[in-house]
Amino acid sequence: MRESFPSYEASVAEFYGMQEYHLGWRDLELQPAHADPGKLLRPQLTLLACQACGGDLAQALPLAAGIQLIHDFSLIHDDIQDQSDTRRGRTTVWAHWGIAQGINAGDGMFVLAHLAVQRLADVGVPAATVLDILRRFDATILRVCEGQYLDLSFEGDLSITADDYLAMIERKTAALISGAAGLGGLVAGISAEAAAPLFAFGRSIGLAFQVQDDLLGIWGDPAITGKPAAADLYRRKLSLPVVYALGNSSERDELVFRYLSDNNDPEAIQRMLMILTTAGAYDYCTEIAQHHHEQALQQLAQVPVAASEPAYAALARIRAVAEQLPGRST
Ligand code: IPE
Ligand code: IPE
Ligand code: MG
Ligand code: MG
Repeated sequence: MRESFPSYEASVAEFYGMQEYHLGWRDLELQPAHADPGKLLRPQLTLLACQACGGDLAQALPLAAGIQLIHDFSLIHDDIQDQSDTRRGRTTVWAHWGIAQGINAGDGMFVLAHLAVQRLADVGVPAATVLDILRRFDATILRVCEGQYLDLSFEGDLSITADDYLAMIERKTAALISGAAGLGGLVAGISAEAAAPLFAFGRSIGLAFQVQDDLLGIWGDPAITGKPAAADLYRRKLSLPVVYALGNSSERDELVFRYLSDNNDPEAIQRMLMILTTAGAYDYCTEIAQHHHEQALQQLAQVPVAASEPAYAALARIRAVAEQLPGRST
């Protein structure tokens, strides 16, 4: 990822510095730092998928960097869209440097991500494969933007169903995790058909992951998530626990009233939490996450693993990454 940044002149050091701040490499004064860079789930999947399919891990590095940079680009913009002032336990880029510079820092990272993927051509990946990966990479990012559109458009619409919600997170979150795994296979030189189980695996893990993220957005421990407690209730996000309770709670009227009201007193938030829990929203979401997780493991079993020691080891590590996701606390 560091190699994805150009050497830059002092006059624009702050432009790159903001991006490096977001990645955890600098503090607010833009001095070198080692802050939380995130879980790096997606690039791990890219590298391991490439290795499992018999590819050279070193050849997948530019793609892994590009995937993580796209994820981070989407987070810089997402924090503006969601008005979130905290990410990974630190002030967000826009909250410190303002919305206009935040948008521009995200744009810069979007471009760096593309330049990173283009570097596949410099490490011996055939030009036709690079072009195919770039095309799928961009199609993936477009899906993410569609998902963000749907997520934002759902705000305030209390008629959203669980199916609407799943169609949204399939784009917003699962598409990039699907691409992270599947494109890793393509770098290894396998066909798109052969890589289909990897794309499917990433999609299922992505769905499970986002539902878990929704659980954490309401019931997560702020000390561990790096976000405020019940953050998604304060923001009136239509995450799955809320969508479920709106469709199933015997106290629906009160939930609707509270969701439409701007009362964010601790007692009001506590009441919403109580309504969700009583409606069984926590248990429902845990089951949905578990379902997609099980599907993911089945799809993983269909991946055409290369017959080699490193390939089997990589597959075992993908399984371990997948297995630790349900029940994650960050
Ligand atoms: C956060 O993703 C946004 C979602 C799509 C759920 P992660 O939970 O992977 O974020 P980091 O990179 O580890 O901080
Ligand atoms: C972020 O989704 C997903 C993307 C940026 C594509 P959320 O808004 O649900 O995630 P957090 O809670 O801010 O990490
Ligand atoms: Mg957000
Ligand atoms: Mg968002």
